[in-house]
Amino acid sequence: MEANELPNIAELNKEYFNNTSSTYDANPTNVLYAKKCAEAILREVKDLKGYEVMDFACGTGLISQDLFAHVKSILGVDSSQNMVNEYNKKVSQQGIDKEVMQAICLELKESDGDQLNGRKFDLIVCASAFHHIDDIDSTTRMLVSYLKQGGELVVLDLKKHPEVLHKLHEENKDHIIAHRGGFFPEELEKAFLTTGMLENVSSKIAFSLPKQIEKDEEHIFEWFLVKGKKI
Ligand SMILES: C[S@@+](CC[C@H](N)C(=O)[O-])C[C@H]1O[C@@H](n2cnc3c(N)ncnc32)[C@H](O)[C@@H]1O
Repeated sequence: MEANELPNIAELNKEYFNNTSSTYDANPTNVLYAKKCAEAILREVKDLKGYEVMDFACGTGLISQDLFAHVKSILGVDSSQNMVNEYNKKVSQQGIDKEVMQAICLELKESDGDQLNGRKFDLIVCASAFHHIDDIDSTTRMLVSYLKQGGELVVLDLKKHPEVLHKLHEENKDHIIAHRGGFFPEELEKAFLTTGMLENVSSKIAFSLPKQIEKDEEHIFEWFLVKGKKI
């Protein structure tokens, strides 16, 4: 790599999550964050009955599994083939029809236009993944392009606390994080608003959890949710 060349975040993420897919669900923190995110989505978006949902950056399907009983169908999309395999393994073990829930390995990019043959969704969710993605504005516009008119986009991520930034992820140094420490909620609200295609944009704290960041130091981590409705 040339000195001035940026690492390809998307490729590095793919490699990282391909290598960690088989142990992802064994980490109680991953399961807990996903459970809290799914609960927040269900609190925020009432009556999902009949909804066709996209779970973007779906991972092993922890969010999809919790939303499944409330919706018509869920399509998981992730750039890591091994995460997608874990997702689909669970679906097939449960005997669920692929038409109702399945994941596909796809790198959705704004520059590639429609990659889903005209398929549109009532709700698109993305939990704990935006901080892995470098171009948030483009990703948000791309996701909105897959919403039906009146459909909702809901993104959940870690709220940035500058005072602990330097202490974060010490235990996971190999994580590929484009936005270290998450975001200020206003940053994602701005990305939503500048699409020009979302209204009723708002954010709120979804949940908070204490986490030890150093031997004798605990910090309260806050996850926030930002949502908007397609005009
Ligand atoms: C921390 S995991 C969260 C998984 C899931 N949303 C959950 O809450 O359990 C982040 C996920 O983002 C995916 N990811 C990272 N960059 C991506 C991209 N550009 N497009 C699609 N998925 C991506 C990774 O493969 C991984 O599955």
